[in-house]
Amino acid sequence: MRRLPPVLIEDGCSRELLSLIRTILAACKEISFRVGQGALSGVLGSTLDENIQGETQKKLDVLSNQLLKDILLESGYVKAIASEEEDYTVAGNPDAEYIVAFDPLDGSSNTDINSLVGTIFSIMRAPKDSDPADERIFMQPGHQQVAAGYVLYGPCTTLALTIGKGTRIFTLDKTHGSFMLTEEFAKIPEDTKEFAINASNQRHWQPAMQNYVNDLLAGDTGPRGKNFNMRWIAAMVGDVHRVLCRGGLFTYPADTKDPNKPFKLRLLYEANPMAMLVEQAGGIAHTGQERILEIDPQEIHQRVSVILGSKNEVEACLGYHK
Ligand code: F6P
Ligand code: MN
Repeated sequence: MRRLPPVLIEDGCSRELLSLIRTILAACKEISFRVGQGALSGVLGSTLDENIQGETQKKLDVLSNQLLKDILLESGYVKAIASEEEDYTVAGNPDAEYIVAFDPLDGSSNTDINSLVGTIFSIMRAPKDSDPADERIFMQPGHQQVAAGYVLYGPCTTLALTIGKGTRIFTLDKTHGSFMLTEEFAKIPEDTKEFAINASNQRHWQPAMQNYVNDLLAGDTGPRGKNFNMRWIAAMVGDVHRVLCRGGLFTYPADTKDPNKPFKLRLLYEANPMAMLVEQAGGIAHTGQERILEIDPQEIHQRVSVILGSKNEVEACLGYHK
């Protein structure tokens, strides 16, 4: 079994980018350890604060953010970072080549119930001669990402990673702390009978999504002519991992529950990296109107609707949106 560094070098990954990825993974190993300790590490439960997006912060959100932020800024490999848990971008080394956007702990409502959580990251090149304190350096469409990945803290710790040459899956060998290549080319099956959506929002969805899901639920006697199964982990990172492993459709569509917040998932550190991983594994990642990777971001915490996964099923869903 091969370790991560030689695999990435064979793929043409520069030394600088490899060092940056390894820096992120060093923090993720620490997070993996803390998550694995559960109540023993004293970090379950919430803080008294909210992040800029009005969400309660879990102690593990804050800890994970601090670990990633400190190690990245100290490394000298990043010009700036953007995080779900930081109101604004944070400037790093003015001479560095890369910028990183991350969700330090996705699905953090799962922390207290010993369920799936993970870290999602997106790496882009900083524009030449740009100001590290200027948040506009992050306003790049997702197709310009040079690498994207997530680390899922489950029964085992897995890394899904792409540098634009397919999506690979690595498993953390906790006996010596290395990520080992366990899936050379993740390939999302084109067809599926599995979908993931928070069905409690059904009455707030737009007609296109209402109609699509109604037809899935109608099963083999409905217009789709087959029975579908539903799965929902409540952590995008867990749901996307299932899609990468065995296919499926995952969506967090637009809804009218809160008129000020029509979308849930964040473009820069959730939708974009997942879209790159999914496309590199042969799937589709779309908003219903456009390919996620083509969106020009307007602000760092921007939200979008997300429909991703098995090619033929996403296309079927998009058919309802025309
Ligand atoms: O980061 C947002 C997130 O935690 C996703 O990981 C997940 O898919 C979603 O929110 C779940 O939110 P809700 O329980 O409101 O549907
Ligand atoms: Mn998240």
